[in-house]
Amino acid sequence: EKGGYDYFMLKEIAEQPKAVADTLLGRIDPSGSLTLDEVRISPSELREVDKVVIVACGTAFHAGLIAKYAIEHWTRIPCEVELASEFRYRDPILDGRSLVIAISQSGETMDTLMALRHAREQGSKVLAICNTNGSTIPRESDAVLYTHAGPEVAVASTKAFLTQLVACYLVALYLGQVRGTKWGDEIQAVIKDLSRISEEVERVLETMEPVRALARTLASKNTVLFLGRHVGYPVALEGALKLKELAYMHAEGFAAGELKHGPIALIEEDLPVVVVVPSPRGRSVLHDKIVSNIQEIRARGARTIVIAEEGDEAVVPYADHLIRIPVTPTLLQPLVATVPLQVFACELATARGNEVDQPRNLAKSVTVE
Ligand code: F6R
Repeated sequence: EKGGYDYFMLKEIAEQPKAVADTLLGRIDPSGSLTLDEVRISPSELREVDKVVIVACGTAFHAGLIAKYAIEHWTRIPCEVELASEFRYRDPILDGRSLVIAISQSGETMDTLMALRHAREQGSKVLAICNTNGSTIPRESDAVLYTHAGPEVAVASTKAFLTQLVACYLVALYLGQVRGTKWGDEIQAVIKDLSRISEEVERVLETMEPVRALARTLASKNTVLFLGRHVGYPVALEGALKLKELAYMHAEGFAAGELKHGPIALIEEDLPVVVVVPSPRGRSVLHDKIVSNIQEIRARGARTIVIAEEGDEAVVPYADHLIRIPVTPTLLQPLVATVPLQVFACELATARGNEVDQPRNLAKSVTVE
């Protein structure tokens, strides 16, 4: 049932192009607009929404952090993202015009369930983004957009994460479409780009051998840091989470701009630091800033592992290891940038002799608070 792979995790990583394509299937009509009939919250209700609040845990929370950039950019509706386990304990401000999005692979995560119950008690509409048909979270929500990743067996979430991102982009674009936005043309273009993204993920998977080789050389390290900016920041958090879970290593993700506010003190000779580099096109300010961050940490001895778009030559002089990803629109970059980090963590876990599919102390769905 592992389809020839040593681990479910490897199989699930390899299934990502299909998972992404399946999640888009039937949701983009031939004219290039979105049809999300399943989202049983009417367009007029969606036009009334004045705030989006995303609640989730772990990897799903990271998908939510990325969704915030897409939702705010394309809809101009303020969006908050909160760990479900923190949410209801701080008396959050919610009402009938708040749209709460609960993201969960299993649909059974107790923290997320309690958060959505709290939101509904305040009169908010809840939209679930979920991978498991008929599970508790979609049953208790007002509407659900299913991700079509197929069953995810490995405890560490991979294909579910990519499909959560796709679902979040669909919701963001749909909200933009329903409400009308000045980004109409951009939305059309991004819908086209989304429909090509499965092939890009496939291309990334074909180039992962050097990432595996690199991971094996780091098996005796104690710490790996991850840096990113903009949507690359949650990607860095996700890369670090995967490494903690699977390799049992100290791994931390930082917003690259925060380096000088403390974390740079951690940099020492030969410390591996993975940097997710934003595209040099578009918001090139971010790109230039991160290139100087890479210079700074390298000058202090870090071993830089740079994930950068094809054709980005500016990073070359400062990259001890360079991992190329395809050119994608800025907001969609997490779909391709996360894949090498999954492979990296999986290979490091294997090199350290860890059980990849069943990391110690973890369970696939966390049904206690
Ligand atoms: C990480 C991981 C966990 C889950 C989290 C939420 O690889 O698997 O962090 O993402 O427990 O689970 P769901 O999405 O089922 O609510």
